[in-house]
Amino acid sequence: MSAARDYPLDCWYVAASAADVGSELTSRRLLGRQVLLYRDGAGTVVALEDRCAHRALPLSMGSLVADRVVCRYHGFAYDATGACVDVPSQDNVPFGARVASYPVREAGTYVWVWLGNPRRSAGSAVPRMPWLEDPAWSSLGGELTVASGYLLLHENALDRTHFAFVHPDTAHRGYLEAEPPLKVEVSETSVSYARDFPAGPLTAWQSAATGLPPDVLCVQRESGVFVSPALHVDHMEIVGPERSYRTVFVRAFTPVDGSTTRVLWQVARDYATDDALASESLRRVHERTMLEDQPLLEAIQATLDRDGAPRPVNAAADIASVKAHSIVRRLLEEESPQPQ
Ligand code: FES
Ligand SMILES: [Fe+2]
Repeated sequence: MSAARDYPLDCWYVAASAADVGSELTSRRLLGRQVLLYRDGAGTVVALEDRCAHRALPLSMGSLVADRVVCRYHGFAYDATGACVDVPSQDNVPFGARVASYPVREAGTYVWVWLGNPRRSAGSAVPRMPWLEDPAWSSLGGELTVASGYLLLHENALDRTHFAFVHPDTAHRGYLEAEPPLKVEVSETSVSYARDFPAGPLTAWQSAATGLPPDVLCVQRESGVFVSPALHVDHMEIVGPERSYRTVFVRAFTPVDGSTTRVLWQVARDYATDDALASESLRRVHERTMLEDQPLLEAIQATLDRDGAPRPVNAAADIASVKAHSIVRRLLEEESPQPQ
């Protein structure tokens, strides 16, 4: 069943971690398109349509020679703008021999691409994530591919009421007892929520990461924001006796297509920045929670694919995700006709 596209194209999405893009040609499926990524001789990342204009061989099977992508089949050569600049079998380049070239921004950890109308990219900045670049913070991360649409991942990130059911071993006691209500704020383009949990004991992993004794009672603050269709950011703060311990959980959700999403995640912290055990503890717990969510989201997607998607029943706690859906709907309505 092919459903209408539910992700806006006029938006910056994370294409890859900056460390994963080098001078070799790599191909990634992003937003239902095959995209070729590489760094030119000056280190600038280039994103092109991964399909030769001649006979559609993926350009990623070719090679990079003096900053030109040379197709493996008949040697058509393309520059970073996507223009074909050489055809070995003849003197001139045939009319229309070009592939799409996509706007790219590299910012710290991530490479962002804009696959929509390129003119609209100029007025839109990629989200700022200072914690990932601040030397006073330490971060770690990874990648995960989930067989569900990106909106199910946003819903899951905005939904704080599933913790007691899906993450009972890692959620702190605030989630497992009477949860304080979330304060949800909505702007034209984002949804955020925040709340403070009353002082309570830390979980074992929080104690391991911060070095605080597990029985010390701390207020915990959480807030999070749907930044754009491409990004969700969570902030968690443990208010300790001497100082605060801040952790930021960044999840870039990049649709591979309508029913698969790549999650490029980072966890940054402003405490125990050199401590390998703290890193290990944070990596383990964040990977675990994503792996606990994954089979549920995949089962939901399989159900929607099989049986259709009638309007769901919402609980009061779903307000943030309902707002995120309406932002996405508006962005889709506002999109200019897209280049094919
Ligand atoms: S298919 Fe690329 S040059 Fe012919
Ligand atoms: Fe979860």
